Amino acid sequence: MSASSQSLANKQILLGVTGGIAAYKSADLVRRLQDAGASVQVVMTPAAQEFITPLTLQALSGNPVHTQLLDPEAEAGMGHIQLARWADLVLIAPATADFMARLAQGMGNDLLTSICLATKAPIALAPAMNQGMWHNAATQANLECLIERKVIMFGPAEGGQACGDVGPGRMLEPLQLVDAAAGLFTPGSLAGKTLVITAGPTREAIDPVRYLSNHSSGKMGYALAEAAAEAGANTILISGPTQLKTPARVTRIDVTSAQEMYEASMAAAPDCDLFIAAAAVADYRPAQVASQKLKKGAEDSITLTLVKNPDIVASIAALPRRPFTVGFAAETEQLLEHARAKLQRKKLDLVIANNVGDTQIGFNSDDNAVTLVDNSGIQALSQRSKTQLARELIAILAGRLDKHPASEQAK
Ligand code: CTP
Repeated sequence: MSASSQSLANKQILLGVTGGIAAYKSADLVRRLQDAGASVQVVMTPAAQEFITPLTLQALSGNPVHTQLLDPEAEAGMGHIQLARWADLVLIAPATADFMARLAQGMGNDLLTSICLATKAPIALAPAMNQGMWHNAATQANLECLIERKVIMFGPAEGGQACGDVGPGRMLEPLQLVDAAAGLFTPGSLAGKTLVITAGPTREAIDPVRYLSNHSSGKMGYALAEAAAEAGANTILISGPTQLKTPARVTRIDVTSAQEMYEASMAAAPDCDLFIAAAAVADYRPAQVASQKLKKGAEDSITLTLVKNPDIVASIAALPRRPFTVGFAAETEQLLEHARAKLQRKKLDLVIANNVGDTQIGFNSDDNAVTLVDNSGIQALSQRSKTQLARELIAILAGRLDKHPASEQAK
């Protein structure tokens, strides 16, 4: 991946295809954008479908192609407003003279123009048309108007045209368009890196209906996964049972018990650059899981024998080619002492210590305050929303990762 195209990692690109002969190149463009790490949703105008079928672009993009504005079924799925919100960039390639005219007029007479009206994302056009149509005063006036409205123009290139003419109006080649699109974004601090993160509680079965667990909501881990994906990381979230939605651009692996979380982590970690253990893993599990529901007996008290679960984060830190390994220390007292002890005992690169005894910033709240502890000292981040905190933590971790030899070992 070239340095410039790294800035497309995890970007969401809505590719609009309008009705020109260059539409056949849109198929290649979908692939090239995906190779650069972007996810692509395709919207086609009716005229575009005369040149290339939605099925081709659907197969290549891996997503249904959107063609209708007034299709109740499509609107029930991802409607025009959702598509407009989803996009980090609306790229229209090829953009015909007719489409430029409709865009300049502010029309919303099909799905693509409506999305362009609704979106807050930048809009870039790759014009493609006969040189005479390009030179036409109406097209030039539309071009000027669109540029004035901050619509970005990629090309057109000059050269031989499908109709035999020579001149400006050729669509840029797919790779040139990928580079041009990448140039609109600065590379995220974790572009090109892989992060594995555990989150949420684990459940340790006692019998088919009962389990041991804890109050972890998973919010901090999910916020970190979201921030890492925003920063361009290929993000794998290994999650215990939670009520949370999977953040965009994140691959989620669901697990229930600590043992399952351990296995999923050990399978994913060897290929990652950064491992964050944000899960509240049960330290012990019942020695035996009853196959039938346990019945109440005459005894006033019963004893449950527990056995130790594997320590996931310590096992990752012990790998011969370990990623940069970060643990949490969720404590109710002696925060820094316990955090330092965990740093040493588990051989971590960094511990994020938080006080779970404080209900303002504890397990289920939306806020958190943490102290970062490593061998060089401590850094406190005061109370703020978990989303905001996650972004700051990811920026700090990205900085550490660049300097740390562990990030080399993971290669
Ligand atoms: N952790 C883990 N696997 C375990 C237990 C904990 O990966 N079996 C990770 C947690 O995800 C967290 C860190 O280790 O990143 C510290 O977890 P915590 O529960 O605070 O510490 P424990 O090792 O369980 O120690 P203690 O219960 O004594 O506080």
